[in-house]
Amino acid sequence: MGNGVVGKVIRTSVAVASMVLLSTGSTWAETAKGKSLYDRLGGKEALVAVVESFVGKVGADTRINGYFANTDLTKLKMNLVNQICEATGGPCRYTGRSMKVTHAGMGVTNAAFGALVEDLVAALDQHKVGKAEKDQLLAILGPMKSDIVEKQ
Ligand code: HEM
Repeated sequence: MGNGVVGKVIRTSVAVASMVLLSTGSTWAETAKGKSLYDRLGGKEALVAVVESFVGKVGADTRINGYFANTDLTKLKMNLVNQICEATGGPCRYTGRSMKVTHAGMGVTNAAFGALVEDLVAALDQHKVGKAEKDQLLAILGPMKSDIVEKQ
């Protein structure tokens, strides 16, 4: 690398690229391969296993299981798998309703949303999903909160 303007530009570019990679928690190898979050989560089989555990935990969670008293859990699991698969870059299509329409009138509270996220994190931890993948998934689902929570 030279000492002139070109060298400085190259050094600056490398520094910026490194910072971007560090801040996203990716490695050079991962980025080069361009693996989707879906692939890094382990694909369909891993996702089905996580959703299975997640819904099991929600069903056992007395803070929030009342909301799901009349829910067809098989259909819910199918919808969650397709939703997460599609949102993470997998080869699925979510065919369920929008988050706003689905949760309208349920009176989901902030605390209930927090409890559900805790159950999801517990399921991800149980299946040994890495921190970078976990954080990235939560960052995708987090913004849905405003369409789901209706009251404090
Ligand atoms: C980011 C968080 C959440 C996501 C991604 C999510 C996603 C979904 C999806 C995909 C469905 C199926 C949609 C359909 O049937 O067309 C669903 C249904 C449902 N969700 Fe959520 N949800 C979230 C948070 C919550 C929370 C916090 C509660 C309550 C504590 C909740 C309660 C329900 C219930 C009861 C149903 C079933 C509705 C029915 O039986 O028709 N959800 N959710």
